[in-house]
Amino acid sequence: MFTTATRPASTARDLFAEIEDLKRDLNAIVLAHYYQDGDIQDAADYIGDSLGLARQAADTDAEVIVFAGVHFMAETAKILNPNKLVLLPDLDAGCSLADSCPPDAFAKFKAQYPEAIVVSYINCTAAIKALSDVICTSSNAVDLVNQLPADRPIIFAPDRNLGRYVAEQTGRDLILWDGSCIVHEIFSEKKLVQLKVQHPEAEVLAHPECEQAVLTHANFIGSTTALLKRAQVSDRASFIVATEPGIIHQMEKAMPGKTFIPAPPEGNCACNECPHMRLNTLEKLRDAMIDRQPEIKLPEDIRAAARAPIEKMLKMSR
Ligand code: 13P
Ligand code: SF4
Repeated sequence: MFTTATRPASTARDLFAEIEDLKRDLNAIVLAHYYQDGDIQDAADYIGDSLGLARQAADTDAEVIVFAGVHFMAETAKILNPNKLVLLPDLDAGCSLADSCPPDAFAKFKAQYPEAIVVSYINCTAAIKALSDVICTSSNAVDLVNQLPADRPIIFAPDRNLGRYVAEQTGRDLILWDGSCIVHEIFSEKKLVQLKVQHPEAEVLAHPECEQAVLTHANFIGSTTALLKRAQVSDRASFIVATEPGIIHQMEKAMPGKTFIPAPPEGNCACNECPHMRLNTLEKLRDAMIDRQPEIKLPEDIRAAARAPIEKMLKMSR
């Protein structure tokens, strides 16, 4: 038997074929987020935003879930499917936003507001979910907060940028945890304005994890799926896209006649690519299915406590 290190290299075509065979043999489904490399998206059975991925994970009949995304996403799939094998191609695929909210510190923060309802963005660890009343994603956060009782304070964690945007949209005075995503904070307002001047016809699409200064210049703000749909219905032919550029793969596939320009980050690097998401590769995806690891495992008490707020979200989401 080959180990990962000794396994012979495959061509891209072989890899796609191998992955298809493995899916069939294992009764596996590959779920991928839009921020994955294009070839991983092309190998997936379902590509979506965090809400779509959670719904797929909740509904699938497959015995094995291979999550081409980051750790908190695969964890969510495991929370919903305790008896299934959930694989993450690279166990180091974490999330700066989830890391910005350690459970001990958050428990102390929460204790200061005993009356508050805790709404946590799905981009957090299972331990934070277990401390929450309801989970949200970028596509349902405004709608969910609007459904909460008006006379109760609300803690919103961990993303301060999404929280500020939700507060603005709902008119609710949210108590914000001070976390953020390294990818969405890196966009340069100055360079975005310069790009708009160069492309006055382009519509600016932005994710609500971006800072307020960037969102001010957006024509449309939404989750990755919402941005994709907006580009499809818009009568514009070009778009400046202020989110991780992996989404542009699907945009170009769905709309070959339209032009998508990634919003520029500060500096000259490609640091608007999520370094965590991009740890997954097609080879690692294939190897995870052959080796049946890396596997997501969770302590049962945390898993059970984290499930209730996710199910609440799924019930409350229209
Ligand atoms: P959505 O796909 O739900 O918009 O989330 C974006 C994101 O940052 C995922 O890590
Ligand atoms: Fe986390 Fe940001 Fe990467 Fe999404 S894009 S996984 S929020 S670091």
